[in-house]
Amino acid sequence: MTKVAPSLLAADFMHLAEQIIELEKAGCDLLHLDIMDGHFVPNLSFGPFIVKQINAITDLPLDVHLMIANPEKYIDRYLDAGADYLTVHGEVIGADPTLLKQIKSAGAKAGLSLNPDADIMDYRDLFVHLDLFLVMSVYAGFGGQKFIENVLEQVRKAVSFRDEMGLDFKISIDGGINLKTAALARQAGVDILVAGTALFSAADIGHFIRELRG
Ligand code: DX5
Ligand code: ZN
Repeated sequence: MTKVAPSLLAADFMHLAEQIIELEKAGCDLLHLDIMDGHFVPNLSFGPFIVKQINAITDLPLDVHLMIANPEKYIDRYLDAGADYLTVHGEVIGADPTLLKQIKSAGAKAGLSLNPDADIMDYRDLFVHLDLFLVMSVYAGFGGQKFIENVLEQVRKAVSFRDEMGLDFKISIDGGINLKTAALARQAGVDILVAGTALFSAADIGHFIRELRG
């Protein structure tokens, strides 16, 4: 079944602990944590200090999405803070698998994310190192943007890489996910749906999560 990862960027940070408990009860599968540095993306969010505090109050796996320059300087801090999945951007690491290997050897799951205009073929050789491929369906940087439908082609290509190469990474999609776009993403072969704005504005989050799964 398709998994659901709420993006905490859309949560009420003054009531974060209550919101996380509500998400657990609502049956979500992972928590998606968006780390932004004001360099790789023109926005700032939070750092390892908050990730660690979140990890202390939940058993949900933490899916940490690093939208940062120089991730090599910071991955250890996110791993120590309790990241289960640690995702870096292809636009930052290029075709070099070193960081992905480091994440895996630290015992976490390694993810690669690409913005909507990336050519997935340029990163083909990295897929053998991946536990997660995070397709951006908006340009990284802000919640609440509109889903870019063209990226479904990246999802389909990732599905075919996985089949051709006999790999077993998961495919996640991030940005502008609502009930309509979730259905398109599921059809294209997505395993994990990241949802922020639409999920946190749902009247009944548990019901919304079940509907996202289809
Ligand atoms: C965008 C982030 C997303 C985003 C998802 O840079 O990576 O995780 O916050 O939020 P919505 O669902 O609001 O697009
Ligand atoms: Zn994200």
